[in-house]
Amino acid sequence: MNQHVNTITVRGLVKSFGANKVLQGVDFSVRQGEVVVIMGPSGSGKTTLLRSLNFLELPDAGAITVCGTQVVREGAPELSRKDQKKIRAIRQRTAMVFQSFNLFPHRTALENVTEGLISVKHIKKNEAVARGIRLLERVGLAAKANDYPARLSGGQKQRVAIARGLAMEPEVILFDEPTSALDPALREDVLVVMRELAREGMTMLVVTHEVRFAQDVADRIVFMDGGVVVEDTTPEAFFGGTGSPRVRQFLNLIEL
Ligand SMILES: Nc1ncnc2c1ncn2[C@@H]1O[C@H](COP(=O)(O)OP(=O)(O)OP(=O)(O)O)[C@@H](O)[C@H]1O
Ligand SMILES: [Mg+2]
Repeated sequence: MNQHVNTITVRGLVKSFGANKVLQGVDFSVRQGEVVVIMGPSGSGKTTLLRSLNFLELPDAGAITVCGTQVVREGAPELSRKDQKKIRAIRQRTAMVFQSFNLFPHRTALENVTEGLISVKHIKKNEAVARGIRLLERVGLAAKANDYPARLSGGQKQRVAIARGLAMEPEVILFDEPTSALDPALREDVLVVMRELAREGMTMLVVTHEVRFAQDVADRIVFMDGGVVVEDTTPEAFFGGTGSPRVRQFLNLIEL
């Protein structure tokens, strides 16, 4: 693994919703194998940033490079054919895990994991099932393979969502507050899976306010406020209380 290769590079990322300038020139990068945690107050643009990286939101300006594929936006409202192709390539290499799980309700845990393998990767059903079961084992849910999401706890649903993301063999996983919809007792089961992925060298960009996870696992903390990156530093420096007043104000608000 080459630690000097950037998996994600973002330069000058700008995105508005109407008159609301949500991202106002965001710059940061994530190296291969790194775990980068994004923190920042509500409305600072964290979700918009994550969604822009795989073009669920279309940025107004800036350059995004993911796994060697670069898309440059500069005012053109429409995506060219070439850019659309690049965006498909980026989506194939990234997985996204949402706060709200986004499982298919009418499919079992196993079917949720195998769906993409069968319909996108065109893997034979019996092979997809074998892979799906291995992935559910990995997140501690082999026994729930045939249960529908309605019968799973929030933590179990989120672990199925992670298994589903892993099924596509991504080079990087984008997590948007994966534990914030969960009761404290269920969060740890999800965090254990995420810690394990980090230990195995998965490149991860994680929006979270889980301080212990950030302190233990993150290589860097990117702090966003008002649509820009205010700090990009180590967990030690970030939580050490020596940062900018905006960071200190934020740290006072979240539970430490
Ligand atoms: N689809 C949309 N249409 C219009 N405005 C939006 C849309 N998505 C986000 N916004 C606005 O963009 C701003 C940033 O939202 P975003 O969800 O990126 O913030 P966030 O940092 O993820 O906040 P939170 O911590 O609450 O999740 C907010 O003012 C929000 O209202
Ligand atoms: Mg958000």
